[in-house]
Amino acid sequence: MCGIIGYSGRRQAAPILIDSLGRLEYRGYDSAGIAIFNNNTVEVYKDKGRIADLEKALPDISGTVGIGHTRWATHGRPNKVNAHPHTSGNIAVAHNGIIENYQQLREKLTQLGYIFVSETDTEVLAHLINYYYKNNLTDAVVPALKDIKGSYAIAVLCGSELVAARKDSPLVIGIGENENFIASDIPAILKYTRKMIFLEDMEIASLTPDSVLFFDSNKRQIEKQINIIDWDMEAAEKSGYEHFMLKEIHEQPRALHETFAGRISELEGTITFDSLDLTEDQIKDISRINVIACGTSLNAGLLGKYLFEQFAGIHVDVEIASEFRYVHSSPGSLVIVISQSGETADTLAALREAKSYGCKTLAITNVMGSTITREVDNVIYTRSGPEIGVAATKTFISQLGVIYLLALLFGKIKGKISSDQMKRMLVSLKQIPAQITRILGNKEFIEIYAQIFSNANDSFFIGRTFNYPIALEGALKLKEISYIHAEGYAAGELKHGPLALITKNTPVIAIATRGITYDKMVNNIKEVKAREAPVLAIADEKDIEIEKYVDGVVKVPSTEDIISPILSTVVVQLLSYYTAKARNCTIDQPRNLAKSVTVE
Ligand code: M6R
Repeated sequence: MCGIIGYSGRRQAAPILIDSLGRLEYRGYDSAGIAIFNNNTVEVYKDKGRIADLEKALPDISGTVGIGHTRWATHGRPNKVNAHPHTSGNIAVAHNGIIENYQQLREKLTQLGYIFVSETDTEVLAHLINYYYKNNLTDAVVPALKDIKGSYAIAVLCGSELVAARKDSPLVIGIGENENFIASDIPAILKYTRKMIFLEDMEIASLTPDSVLFFDSNKRQIEKQINIIDWDMEAAEKSGYEHFMLKEIHEQPRALHETFAGRISELEGTITFDSLDLTEDQIKDISRINVIACGTSLNAGLLGKYLFEQFAGIHVDVEIASEFRYVHSSPGSLVIVISQSGETADTLAALREAKSYGCKTLAITNVMGSTITREVDNVIYTRSGPEIGVAATKTFISQLGVIYLLALLFGKIKGKISSDQMKRMLVSLKQIPAQITRILGNKEFIEIYAQIFSNANDSFFIGRTFNYPIALEGALKLKEISYIHAEGYAAGELKHGPLALITKNTPVIAIATRGITYDKMVNNIKEVKAREAPVLAIADEKDIEIEKYVDGVVKVPSTEDIISPILSTVVVQLLSYYTAKARNCTIDQPRNLAKSVTVE
């Protein structure tokens, strides 16, 4: 996600803002900016590119109150105009999150005479606050926030007034001596203070050098507790988690929430992708899809095959990107490339090959402005925020989120699913972030099972139908970070060879959530149990049968069978993580691997 900083004190604000933004650099960003109150005006300096370049370009500005931002583009390209802070008159806003109803607000504000210069959703906030502003910034922020739908963490500057607020996006207030701070992340301000107050959803803070007042969404004053943070800088960068991977696993509810934001209306049973430039007639004409990807993104694509075929009746071929050039595709098929980084060389080469056949192309990616996004016809962003651990976790969950929506949308347009089915699926999908949070709440239980795995040399992950891609993903995660040999198998395929490898020393993870293949899955579990393999099942919380057949069960919340793979994913991620931890592996930087694989 993007980074926010705010300062109100007696020192010069600019060096503090720049220094604090620099401390968020490790998270990745595409542009940066600051706004300072100086000589009775709010001055803004921002640009695409690095903070160091922004710093070099700064004139000699004085001012003791200001805000800053590092942007990770979601709405609008990474460039100077779209960089934050955004202004309206003397009001400047830095924002993290997504304003879902920004189009409607933009139209309304345009009619009122406000002129928009950027492509961002944030600019509506600046104008909206300006619209409500009389003579007190908090009084203007309160009604503006009532008008917006979506998620936000904001720092707002107007003259010497500094206000912060949040909903579904983190924000912390740092308490100093004669100075106070706003930050989206603790490391940004840890050098200046260890006294932190965490804002909760719908809370607002008004800062001066000597005081911070807290309000609820109706501007009733509230009391907040100060926390003393004793983390060192490295721990702070990971929000106190031992590894980025664990932090990113915990960020999945929020990542998925952002993936869905503004795209789903479960009441109306509709799905909208602003960036999808395909007409209903073009979608109706799609009879074949080629999904191209590598690694974890390939596993997301494989689940997509089940979803597009089931929801939309479209035949899907899933191609390993590095093999695609040898299989050829027909010009009539829609080619979907999936890549969290948008830079994977194999995927890029395959995309170029597909374009040379005349195929229409669509990318699902997390990085705005990446090479793949510049070469495809359509892009859908996953909006997971920057991912630092080499093992893809939250980006995978968000890829799945996009693929579910896309398959449902195509199914609806093709008349393959009814409005009722659509609404039911959307209601269930909307519940998934909270259900992931429940799984995360039981992670200690998964850690215990990981101890068993940590002594194994070989292991198997098995599943059927839409659980099969998650078996592959579980095996990939485990081998990638724990260096244990792991195979992902369609459970029905075991008896055609790999069963010969099953012994009491090969733990098996069986993804056995309910569904049409459940009974067959139980038979497969019996097969491996007969060879004395220790079996851990991932099962629906209402399943009281499964315990009889296995050595351990991790239960996941009940949902639609076809949606349950998202929940099972979190279990295999945690299992891999804790196994790697028990083996003292360098989890965030596994040997021989890179986050972005830019060589073929
Ligand atoms: O950036 P991409 O999604 O294109 O990357 C593809 C693979 O290199 C990547 O998913 C890799 O398999 C992950 N490190 C797995 O965790």
